[in-house]
Amino acid sequence: MLKRKDAYTVAVVGATGAVGQEIIEILEERNFPAASVRLFASERSEGKRVEFMGKTLKVEVLRPDVFEGIDMALFSAGGVRSREFAPAAVRAGCIVIDNSSVWRMDPEVPLVVPEVNPGDLKKHRGIIANPNCSTIQMVLILKPIHDAARIRRVVVTTFQSVSGTGMRAMEELLQQSVNVLNMKEVSRAVYPHQIAFNVLPHIDAFTETGDTMEETKLVNETRKILGDEALRVTATTVRVPVFRGHSESLNIETEKALSPEECRALLAGSPGVVVFDVPEKNVYPVPLEVAGKDDVYVGRVRRDPSIPNGLNLWVVGDNLRKGAALNAVQIAETLIDGA
Ligand code: A2P
Repeated sequence: MLKRKDAYTVAVVGATGAVGQEIIEILEERNFPAASVRLFASERSEGKRVEFMGKTLKVEVLRPDVFEGIDMALFSAGGVRSREFAPAAVRAGCIVIDNSSVWRMDPEVPLVVPEVNPGDLKKHRGIIANPNCSTIQMVLILKPIHDAARIRRVVVTTFQSVSGTGMRAMEELLQQSVNVLNMKEVSRAVYPHQIAFNVLPHIDAFTETGDTMEETKLVNETRKILGDEALRVTATTVRVPVFRGHSESLNIETEKALSPEECRALLAGSPGVVVFDVPEKNVYPVPLEVAGKDDVYVGRVRRDPSIPNGLNLWVVGDNLRKGAALNAVQIAETLIDGA
């Protein structure tokens, strides 16, 4: 459990990555009560300098014995590092907030979106999992609808940006785009197909059912966070040539009737959600506008006339902020509030 202090020693593991850099910015932006911040990455980054609150911090090499004296560690260095180093951190008395998928479905590990299930944090035993980026923005929308009208089934299709894959994928999209526009040959290393000017119905590995791991995560994590194992969810996850911001088309069937007007009013009163929905004025969320924002934006709220109680919605969130770094920092803040 976290001891009450005026300020905490915080570690960012994977500090040079797309999410790690965002965590550092958000800690500074939100004036996080940090007595000191330690940054860890691989040997490749040893000694790199990062500005934080007027100080220059140096990136250190991640090793199992670095966690002594660290109160909280925000991990975003990939599943392999989480599996290897999180237990050592916990043994040293550090609370781990982990952005990888390795601990998310462990029954002893809370999977938390602070606006949705903050109470689950109480059950932690050292590791708290940050959900998948697409799950976070979806459950922020589903929770108030589920509470008000009981969701029977969700059909979700995602349109996910390349920053979700990491820095190398952002470089690949940029390089491929430049090469296409200059009529040069395009090479690829991160994705199995060219991502520039293309759409790939493939995120993470395929499973034996024909679904991808990303699709399976969306289903299982949503049920765990909403505490409803019976909830029917089906997903198709798609990578699109967008740098930042994930979009989702949601089709929701509820037990109780909920009109689009009632749904908009419900969502407008929900924390972390902005209703952005005036189609006749071309007002609906798009990733270019939502990138950099903390809230999740929802628009195109309308009835699905093909079923008795159906709604269609369009949801956009910044996958590096609320989908990853911001949610992790909010988990840390919620722990501090409860300490
Ligand atoms: P490094 O920059 O030193 O490779 P992204 O998801 O954007 O690709 O970022 C991955 C993050 O994980 C980076 O900060 C990266 O550090 C870090 N990382 C990768 N491999 C290791 C490792 N073996 N030990 C520690 N950090 C690692």
